[in-house]
Amino acid sequence: MARKIIYDTDIGWMNDDCMAAIFALKSAHIDVLGITPVMGNFDLNYEMACALRLLEILGHDDIPVCRGFDRPLIHRRGPYAEKVWGRWALHETVDDIPPGMPSTNADPRHAADFIAETVLAQPGEVTIVAVGPLTNVAFAMRMYPQIIEQVAEIVIMGGAIGRLPRGSGNVTPSAEFNFWVDPEAAAIVMHSGAPITLMPLNVCRRTHFSGSMYRRIINSESDYPEVADLFRRYIGPRFNDPELDRRQPVLYYGVYDHACLAWLIDPGIFTCERICVEVSTQPGLDYGASHGYIQGDYVSGNEALPIETDIEPVTVAYDMDFDRLVEIYVDAITKR
Ligand code: RIB
Ligand code: CA
Repeated sequence: MARKIIYDTDIGWMNDDCMAAIFALKSAHIDVLGITPVMGNFDLNYEMACALRLLEILGHDDIPVCRGFDRPLIHRRGPYAEKVWGRWALHETVDDIPPGMPSTNADPRHAADFIAETVLAQPGEVTIVAVGPLTNVAFAMRMYPQIIEQVAEIVIMGGAIGRLPRGSGNVTPSAEFNFWVDPEAAAIVMHSGAPITLMPLNVCRRTHFSGSMYRRIINSESDYPEVADLFRRYIGPRFNDPELDRRQPVLYYGVYDHACLAWLIDPGIFTCERICVEVSTQPGLDYGASHGYIQGDYVSGNEALPIETDIEPVTVAYDMDFDRLVEIYVDAITKR
């Protein structure tokens, strides 16, 4: 049976979230009940237009798109945010996106209401796949705490766990982008006790989008010519230039969010640990950093102090069979 999901995302035009949305929408193993954009990679108005237009192009405009938060709970843009990646909370108007503006409208419900309504209507059946900052999910949990018991699973792309391989940050030395944009929201979610699977940078750094994947997706034999066309138009310029392909043959960020979806289809391709993950909300260098540990572990060099907190462990993936992910992904978006 297909897994029912709500896709909570900071989608842009053919960014990783958008490519993963195509994966979810075309996979026979996944049923997308709604999309709930949240600011992050881009400003919310731009993301709403991208989500609606993508659904139109793929013939899925019956799926509701519910507007989420246009800013984090507490974090405000400062000089550092201006210098690093992420157009969150700029409150820009948008009158054009690469494929042209959508003609369909957003669903009138707020993302947090939609998440709760959908989870509570089908107890134990709905999974939240969250691949942007966790503002919508945290707010839904605070407004409707019953969802914590009734959600099937929350699969999150976020965090970077220092105790595991490849665990440095990508926006500060120790913080990953999604957690850093809204650390307070990430802390609420990680403390909630909900059944969480985390795909931190540790596992995402085992992925890349390659020229050979691109060529398989645009193959004229594809059952989804509209998908092949999107990749040809918007990803093609990177791979059609032999000089660029030779110098930079992969998109490094390309398939981070796909890991969350592959987990729903074949969890056996991942290597995981059950650990506690806390998110720092301390202002300064540690803001948004995620710290992983095992309850009762002794801090190295301090044998007298086992770590004891009240946080529940979550499943953290830190490695995967990437070749298998590629097969699952390319099959889903090229074969009916
Ligand atoms: O840190 C990786 C995350 O932020 C991904 O969700 C991606 O969209 C990026 O911008
Ligand atoms: Ca994202």
